[in-house]
Amino acid sequence: MHPLQCVLQVQRSLGWGPLASVSWLSLRMCRAHSSLSSTMCPSPERQEDGARKDFSSRLAAGPTFQHFLKSASAPQEKLSSEVEDPPPYLMMDELLGRQRKVYLETYGCQMNVNDTEIAWSILQKSGYLRTSNLQEADVILLVTCSIREKAEQTIWNRLHQLKALKTRRPRSRVPLRIGILGCMAERLKEEILNREKMVDILAGPDAYRDLPRLLAVAESGQQAANVLLSLDETYADVMPVQTSASATSAFVSIMRGCDNMCSYCIVPFTRGRERSRPIASILEEVKKLSEQGLKEVTLLGQNVNSFRDNSEVQFNSAVPTNLSRGFTTNYKTKQGGLRFAHLLDQVSRVDPEMRIRFTSPHPKDFPDEVLQLIHERDNICKQIHLPAQSGSSRVLEAMRRGYSREAYVELVHHIRESIPGVSLSSDFIAGFCGETEEDHVQTVSLLREVQYNMGFLFAYSMRQTRAYHRLKDDVPEEVKLRRLEELITIFREEATKANQTSVGCTQLVLVEGLSKRSATDLCGRNDGNLKVIFPDAEMEDVNNPGLRVRAQPGDYVLVKITSASSQTLRGHVLCRTTLRDSSAYC
Ligand code: 5AD
Ligand code: SF4
Repeated sequence: MHPLQCVLQVQRSLGWGPLASVSWLSLRMCRAHSSLSSTMCPSPERQEDGARKDFSSRLAAGPTFQHFLKSASAPQEKLSSEVEDPPPYLMMDELLGRQRKVYLETYGCQMNVNDTEIAWSILQKSGYLRTSNLQEADVILLVTCSIREKAEQTIWNRLHQLKALKTRRPRSRVPLRIGILGCMAERLKEEILNREKMVDILAGPDAYRDLPRLLAVAESGQQAANVLLSLDETYADVMPVQTSASATSAFVSIMRGCDNMCSYCIVPFTRGRERSRPIASILEEVKKLSEQGLKEVTLLGQNVNSFRDNSEVQFNSAVPTNLSRGFTTNYKTKQGGLRFAHLLDQVSRVDPEMRIRFTSPHPKDFPDEVLQLIHERDNICKQIHLPAQSGSSRVLEAMRRGYSREAYVELVHHIRESIPGVSLSSDFIAGFCGETEEDHVQTVSLLREVQYNMGFLFAYSMRQTRAYHRLKDDVPEEVKLRRLEELITIFREEATKANQTSVGCTQLVLVEGLSKRSATDLCGRNDGNLKVIFPDAEMEDVNNPGLRVRAQPGDYVLVKITSASSQTLRGHVLCRTTLRDSSAYC
């Protein structure tokens, strides 16, 4: 990755889309339709053994067109207690993992990390084992990202490496199966299967429940794909297996997809239409995480604050949606449903010692009730991501963001008045179609004016979106990179200034563990999600006067801030405390 395209903090990309499918239908049609045969029919060298021939004959007598229609119209969310019938052409036994070892590799945003946990939860139930050793794997699954061209190039390169691994595999072992999951599977579909014959399965973001079947088909030496997008899949009943090393924090997916259709963004096409997970199932997951002792939950979604639970009739009314002042939507205004403020209220009541964050929001969905709640509730972090994308109203219009620079700046002031001390972050794109030097200067001035605490800055990367069809990618690459470099410099200067206002303050820090750079320092995050580094020292525990303790991951400690840079704060620890006991700050 070019260093300038590297995001300054953690790279996130979120995302939606229309229906598309190879899947069940094409499996059945494999022999009949030559246009699909290259994607779905076995290659000659794979057709040897008897068991496979047996499988193929059963496959040929497989699901009928009626079966396909039935499964397409059936609701996708099922109670975990329900036992599904196997597809008529596969035996139950063939759907089982038979202790095959799966290696999962995640690229892109936090949504993909969560999707990896969902995919793994489904495979684990089906009898697969997980391995973190690539050499040991029988199945390698890449959970992919398409947000920028660079992200896709990384996957193509990785596939070339994996091809070598597959070719070198001794015949004594079961053949290695390779799968592409997520956005790139959705976007490129047959192109991947055709270009990389060694890819055995493709599963789009709404098709993870189908993984056991896809892998069973792959066992026979055939390629298999399901890239159907769904209007209602939220994996509400699939409890993700939290595999991150963190003992303190977890991500909880609350909605999927995006209806905004910003002109530069591929996400609506790869992740489908906006849909929300029922509140009851979100609360159940948060309660479980609290019982496990986790101290921080980040609610996740492509448009997290557009959350709307209309899963029950009584939630639906003609109540219009409150948008932020001066903001519009690209779609017909929606009505009713339980909205984000309601969810935030419920989630933050589960455990007052658990910090609540959310990402990634859209600026249009910050009505006063959300801001008020963030202000009032101690355990909702005073941190808002407010992706601006550009500081020029002309570019914002070309991007179809639904607001002007003025409306955005007014929202920033309103948020700062409503939530004193709030920490703000943003996303920006440099060099979008038609962006002039004057537009760029406007973005620079927005960075100066708002003085964000965190920023995620990108050079525009043309994708097959509305902008691709209607606008011209006319800013030369070197100009994009020069503008990006300028934005990064300005962002850093302003963030350093913003973060330096914390020097001398006492902040509540959730301890994560040892600092990566020094074994004598600990590292944690403040309420604004900035990294705080401090020496690992003995301290008082406010709830046990006289007791000297050392901070452990998951502890809340008060840290006196002594210095600040654009990305990190440093300080010394004062005492161990609880979230409720610590309204102390500057
Ligand atoms: N090129 C560059 N950046 C993009 N983003 C989305 N699409 C593109 C693109 N085509 C950025 C936006 C978004 C973030 C997740 O990724 O800033 O907010
Ligand atoms: Fe993409 Fe815009 Fe949706 Fe964000 S809001 S995922 S940028 S279309």
